[in-house]
Order: sequence, then C-alpha cells, then structure tokens
Amino acid sequence: MSNKEYCEKLRRYLAPTYGAPQVAFVRGRGAWLWDADGRKYLDFLAGIAVCSTGHCHPRVVTAIQQQASTLIHTSNLYCIPPQVELAKRLVELSFADRCFFANSGAEANEAAIKMARRWAGRHKASSARTIVTAEYSFHGRTLATVTATGQAKYREPFAPLPGGFRYVPYDDIDALREAVDEEVCAVMIEPLQGEGGVVVPHDSYLPAVRELCDERGVLLILDEVQTGMGRTGEWFAYQHSGIEPDIMTLAKALASGIPIGACLAREEVATAFQPGDHASTFGGNFVSCAAALTTIDVIESEDLVSNAARMGALIEARISGMAAEEPLIVGCRGRGLLKAVVLSQPKARELEAACMERGLLVNAMHDPTLVRLAPPLIVSEDEVEQALTILLDAARAVAQ
Ligand SMILES: Cc1ncc(COP(=O)(O)O)c(C=O)c1O
Repeated sequence: MSNKEYCEKLRRYLAPTYGAPQVAFVRGRGAWLWDADGRKYLDFLAGIAVCSTGHCHPRVVTAIQQQASTLIHTSNLYCIPPQVELAKRLVELSFADRCFFANSGAEANEAAIKMARRWAGRHKASSARTIVTAEYSFHGRTLATVTATGQAKYREPFAPLPGGFRYVPYDDIDALREAVDEEVCAVMIEPLQGEGGVVVPHDSYLPAVRELCDERGVLLILDEVQTGMGRTGEWFAYQHSGIEPDIMTLAKALASGIPIGACLAREEVATAFQPGDHASTFGGNFVSCAAALTTIDVIESEDLVSNAARMGALIEARISGMAAEEPLIVGCRGRGLLKAVVLSQPKARELEAACMERGLLVNAMHDPTLVRLAPPLIVSEDEVEQALTILLDAARAVAQ
C-alpha cells in the first residue's frame, strides 16, 4: 500500500485525535526512516525523543527477539527477573533507591502523584495533598496528569477534573514560594520544559526549588519523561543543576520505543507505597524491561550521553551561524539533543512541511515560532550537517 492508501484508511478507521498524517513509515535504521512510497528521511524527531538508540538498533532488536521467544508475560504477582535487573540499573545510575514500572509517561506520573499523596498521608497533616505544577508544563493525558498539566486547553474540555493541583509560572521562584503552603505535599516540574517550548530555566531555579521544598517539607517530583536517558547530555537533566529530586519519572527513551514508564524515588518516599496501593498488569513486563536493559547498555557502550552533548553543541553553533545568513532563523535553545529552533515569524508549520519535502523530519511546536529537534542520540556529525543543510534550504524557501 502507498502513503495515500494507508492515510486514507487511518482517516476512516481511527479516532481523529492526531489530525491528518500524510506519510506512513514502514522501515527504519539508525537515524533514517523509509515511507510506504520508498522515500528516505533523516529523522530529527526520533518518535518525539523516544528512539534514542536509533531505529531498530541491532542489539535492542536481538534483546527483544530473545526475550519474546523465551517469556513474554507472567504477572507482577511473581518476580520478573529483567524488571529487577532494570530497577537495579536505574537505581545505580540515579539518586533513587526504588522503582515502580508502568507503561507510559502519563502512567509514570500517575504513580508519582499517588506516591506523593501516600507519602503525605503517612508524613504530613491530613490537608496536605495539593501538588503544585508549572504553567505550560506537560505531564500526560490521563485525567490526573492532564490536570497536572499547566495548559488549560488540554484540561478544560474534560471537566470535571480531579482536585488538588495548582499552577505557578515556570522559572519563577517567588511565585512558587507563594504557592507552597500547608495544603501542598509536592512540587512537580520538568527540569527543562519540553512540550511547553523547550524552555531551560535559569541556573539558579532548580537549586532554589530544592531548597524551598526542603524548607517547607514537601517533595520535589521531576518529570524527566522527555529529558531523561541521556538526551540533554547527562543521564538525567537534574544532573546539570547539582540537585536531586525525591521522585523522578521516566518513559519515552527508556526502552528505545517499546512502551514503558518508570517512577523512581528515594527509600522513604517509595516505601510509602504498600502492597495493594498501586499496580499495573503490563508495567515492567519481560519484553519492555529487556529492551530497556539493552538500551542502557547501548547508551553506555556507545558513549551516547557524551555524543548528545557534542552533537547538541554542534547544532547550536551551526544554527547560530545560520541566523546570520537567514533572517527567519533567530537562534536555538535547549540542552544536548533537545532543541528548539526559534523563528522570527510564526512559520513553524511551513518550515516543518518544507523540511519534510526535502527528506528531514522536524516538529512544529504549538508556539508557531518554534521548531523542535530531537534526533536519536546515535546521530553522527555527518547526519547533523546533512540535516542542517536541509533546514537552511527549507528556511530560505519558506522565508521567500
Ligand atoms: C514531560 C512529559 N511528561 C509526560 C508525558 C506523557 O508521556 P506519554 O505520552 O508516554 O503518556 C510527555 C509526553 O510528551 C512529556 O513530554
């Protein structure tokens, strides 16, 4: 079938939540994808920061195949060996002592919200159940996580919403200080806002948030669903700031594209959960954990965290150079391989389409002056140069 035939079927049979895609990808390798019409694309979105080891990394494929032919599912009623190995690896890589596994970012955040409230139930006054989040944050689409999301357009159509959330401007410690009163049990933020427009807070912000949480006796939850697993040039984005959270959530890149979510926490916080408090049928299943374990091995053995930092610096330098040549491009922001190209005009959609016509996948963000780049962490210097040559050519065409 062709792109057109697949996409017509999509429009006929799927709930219309994703607009009207024009392309159906059928094959991938490394940083490259092929569509149903046989066209090749350089993928600078990587499934929205998911496919960090590239498409179909041979070691990840083998791990999935071997696990699938050995054992696919039992239940969390029994010990799942790859799950305990994965928990151990994540604990060793991070601040955390224990993990809970789910199937997505939203579910990891649901676990974090429930864990924080359970902790508050054991350690705080009975009224302290509110979670403070940031405006323009994104935490997921389930009812609790969409309510945690500081963007009214995602929440309001689905009222009545769960209670116990309040919002403050991001990167504004005074606003947070005002908001954290005796009703609050946790602050939940992204260390770098992804969906909100790739917003990096001032260097002083996260340390000040940590200090405030300690002073008021509330938990700090960091949502690293988009920033975790090496993307920003550290294993976790909090490591740029010199502080540690009490709870951290991961998903997206954790298993190279196999669904998984994780909620990691310090001992005292994680053990607020007792048997029966939370569960998931599929969370931490054999195949997703085997894929995640091999993803971590690949990130380590191919030095992908450093590559993310190096390629990120190269992208930043090249885009700054482009700004001198093409006035549509103002510059770029972000960390490592999570970047937004900032435009002088609201032409993100046109630029995304012009890049796609030229064989490059990038992402027009909700703010029409921002285009997101989130290539796989295996991306090479040559691929970065190819992508940015296409980006400049597309920007020139769009600016005309
Ligand atoms: C920071 C953040 N948290 C949570 C989510 C939700 O993850 P999922 O779509 O896997 O539920 C996303 C998705 O974009 C995200 O960027």
